[in-house]
Amino acid sequence: MEEIRAVADGVGIGFVDKTSESATPTSSRDPLPLLKVSSESLQYESGYLGAISDKTSDPHSDTNGNGGPTNVSYLTSILSSKVYEVAIESPLQYAPKISQRSGVRILLKREDLQPVFSFKLRGAYNMMAKLPKEQLEKGVICSSAGNHAQGVALAAERLKCNAVIVMPVTTPEIKWKSVERLGATVVLIGDSYDEAQTYAKRRSEEEGRIFIPPFDHPDVIIGQGTIGMEIVHQNPGPLHAVFVPVGGGGLIAGIAAYMKQVRPEVRIIGVEPADANAMALSLYRGQRVMLDQVGGFADGVAVKVVGEETFRLCRELVDGIVLVSRDAICASIKDMFEEKRSILEPAGALALAGANAYCKYYGLKDETVVAITSGANMNFERLRLVTQLADVGAKREAVLATFLQEEHGSFKNFCQLVGPINITEFKYRYDIGKDKALVLYSVGVHKAEELIAMKDRLESSGLRTLDLTDNDLAKDHLRHLMGGRSNLENELLYRFVFPERPGALMKFLHAFSPRWNISLFHYRAQGDTGANVLVGIQVPKEDEEEFIGQAKTLGYEFKDERKNKAYRLLMH
Ligand SMILES: Cc1ncc(COP(=O)(O)O)c(C=O)c1O
Repeated sequence: MEEIRAVADGVGIGFVDKTSESATPTSSRDPLPLLKVSSESLQYESGYLGAISDKTSDPHSDTNGNGGPTNVSYLTSILSSKVYEVAIESPLQYAPKISQRSGVRILLKREDLQPVFSFKLRGAYNMMAKLPKEQLEKGVICSSAGNHAQGVALAAERLKCNAVIVMPVTTPEIKWKSVERLGATVVLIGDSYDEAQTYAKRRSEEEGRIFIPPFDHPDVIIGQGTIGMEIVHQNPGPLHAVFVPVGGGGLIAGIAAYMKQVRPEVRIIGVEPADANAMALSLYRGQRVMLDQVGGFADGVAVKVVGEETFRLCRELVDGIVLVSRDAICASIKDMFEEKRSILEPAGALALAGANAYCKYYGLKDETVVAITSGANMNFERLRLVTQLADVGAKREAVLATFLQEEHGSFKNFCQLVGPINITEFKYRYDIGKDKALVLYSVGVHKAEELIAMKDRLESSGLRTLDLTDNDLAKDHLRHLMGGRSNLENELLYRFVFPERPGALMKFLHAFSPRWNISLFHYRAQGDTGANVLVGIQVPKEDEEEFIGQAKTLGYEFKDERKNKAYRLLMH
């Protein structure tokens, strides 16, 4: 569902005719057809400041060839915006742990603490509060399955105006219910966001309701710009840069429009996911482009085409774009949790990931930077993936695969070679008919050298090892698909609770191996006091009692799982 929303939210209201094959038509102000490009056509190292545009005009000039507001009028409109009738002045908080680690003073602009948990209400309210009374009486309409929907709904509630929010039928109940609770009329229509948008636009014309776009409108940009104004008075001292998450570009355009007028020396740096880099590509090519596909992980910023006005402002005012990986976003969600006990949604943690990567890449020290934590509307189900990837993203975990000789004792030998490194996940299933066994596992890494030394130990003992840390397919799917059925003789299946302490695995292996063959081993660190480990082990009938005796002396809790229905169905 998020992906559908993502694709469509970025289409820039009113600019693209979805009936066209080639994304050709744009508005009358945009003379060239939009070029379709792949996100892969512009990639650079995480933290590097790329997509630096050749500034098209003087930020202090008071003319705008496009007929839209001038830079000065953006400034004055931001200064007089009424967003505080609905938004809070969000705190600018010091992040001590992240700052100590990076050597840079990192300040978090806590937009995740807004009512409705994102900054989007600023832009929506600013636009709606400016509508004439008779227009408000006719009501407003928008299409969105994300934060914009909630922003418009809250603004409408405060302005006592009727709001219709159009969402695809696939929108999760939790999302449309939270909009409905704010008093808006929710219309669930169409299988995709595009269909919802088409309906919303038609209804806007039929009923004379004003369509409230998510980013590409001066009044929306002005509302988001109030964040820049707050940063300036909350941090009057030196400031190296402000890191801003970029979707359609409304947030960064507003912040840049204000800050480049009053603190022109402060860099305004956009951050995009590497697979949702529509702004970076547009700045790089000097024209708006359309992504052929957009990554949906950070759904709030998954936009295929940036706005026209937002692009114009970014081209003129923004200092460049940093690209980050999905894993790095997860690491920043964890950082924020450890720092403030708050959970950010992926788009909400994007700027922090960019700030971290940039500071590291350029070896920045003793400077101050701001990262906008823009939202906290996290899908609860997504947390599972986030926790799995957070340590990989922070380079604290590596995902590896090693080939073992399929013979008694090889597992124990392998564990000895892994040595003192902490194994955080382990998957192995005996495969009849193969002389080499493949184990998939993850290890906790404190220093990069430890990992290199471990890989050397394995390779020099003839155990071929692949590093899959950057392989998304392995992390998303294959790690869950390892193993399967294996009709083994005399296989016992036991669940053991290992104490989470170094040496627990070796103690276990000393008790059972190499006499009995280990045919299955599955473990994933869950942060519990005891780790749940599933073990398959081939024990001849006559040895079973001895096996149970050994298991008891081990002192770990254990349970026979041979009768488990799922095991019989899936693994046996
Ligand atoms: C949480 C969050 N962060 C960042 C953005 C990006 O804002 P913009 O589309 O104005 O660039 C959005 C957009 O909806 C968002 O919801």
